[in-house]
Amino acid sequence: MSNSNVADRVGVDKITTYIGAEISGVDLSKPLDDPTFQAIHNALMDNLVIFFRDQVMAPEQQKAFGRRFGELHIHPGAPILHEEEEGRPRLGELTHIPYAYGIEGHPEVLAIYADENSKRIAGEEWHSDVSCEAEPPMGSILRLTQVPPSGGDTLFSSMYAAYDALSERMKDFLGGLTASHDGATYGKNFENRAGKTHPHAEHPLVRTHPVTGRKALFVNRTFTTRIVELNNAESDALLQMLFRHCENPVFQCRFRWRPNSVAFWDNRCAMHNAMWDYYPNRRHGYRVTIQGDRPFYRA
Ligand code: SIN
Repeated sequence: MSNSNVADRVGVDKITTYIGAEISGVDLSKPLDDPTFQAIHNALMDNLVIFFRDQVMAPEQQKAFGRRFGELHIHPGAPILHEEEEGRPRLGELTHIPYAYGIEGHPEVLAIYADENSKRIAGEEWHSDVSCEAEPPMGSILRLTQVPPSGGDTLFSSMYAAYDALSERMKDFLGGLTASHDGATYGKNFENRAGKTHPHAEHPLVRTHPVTGRKALFVNRTFTTRIVELNNAESDALLQMLFRHCENPVFQCRFRWRPNSVAFWDNRCAMHNAMWDYYPNRRHGYRVTIQGDRPFYRA
């Protein structure tokens, strides 16, 4: 299939100037030819998060789509559960369904789940996925199968736009600083299940995107705890300022899910935040996560 055919077939409709586009004309359950892969990759690089509607995919198909973009990541702390019909896992010794779990036979697929018994949900605060790892994921592909009657949107924020909006003096000051990212948010369950301590890593506070070469702020409320080169008071004050700055709605788009919608985001330049405004309704879906590289800063 020629590139011009792909341009005719694959639609890219931007949601905002800075972030987000809805893609049409592709069936993600089928193997992607190279021009279609390239069109999707380009749309992701240009828009940071891309959305697809009406995608019915088995775990193997979602994994195959993810593998076009890289090796798949296995979440460090999620329990593995056996799923039966309607995505209800067999609980075994557990008393309620965890907010995130791996599926037996598909450890690379992370199920996310919330209902009337939930105490928390996956991703309910601004973050870049597992930024506490030394090589944080490049991207994540989430497909929801069950959505609440209202609410349950996901917000995405452009960390390029957040960086670009800073003054030149602030950009100079932040360039080359290092931030600590800590996985303590996973709580005690992580240590019990994984039998090891939470991941912890230090990353450049401003990172250069390996594909686009653009600079992005790389801090988030969920994992970033400290700016290494500053004293505690300076670090706390600057992180609070940066968290608030990155969460400015002007850098954001908001996605309203339907069953079988897919969101694919680039963790290197976008943060996201899942709204829990639908309790006690159920929201359920499956994420595959693509491994990334060690973040770097190029002045
Ligand atoms: C996540 O952080 O992967 C969860 C996002 C969502 O449920 O919308």
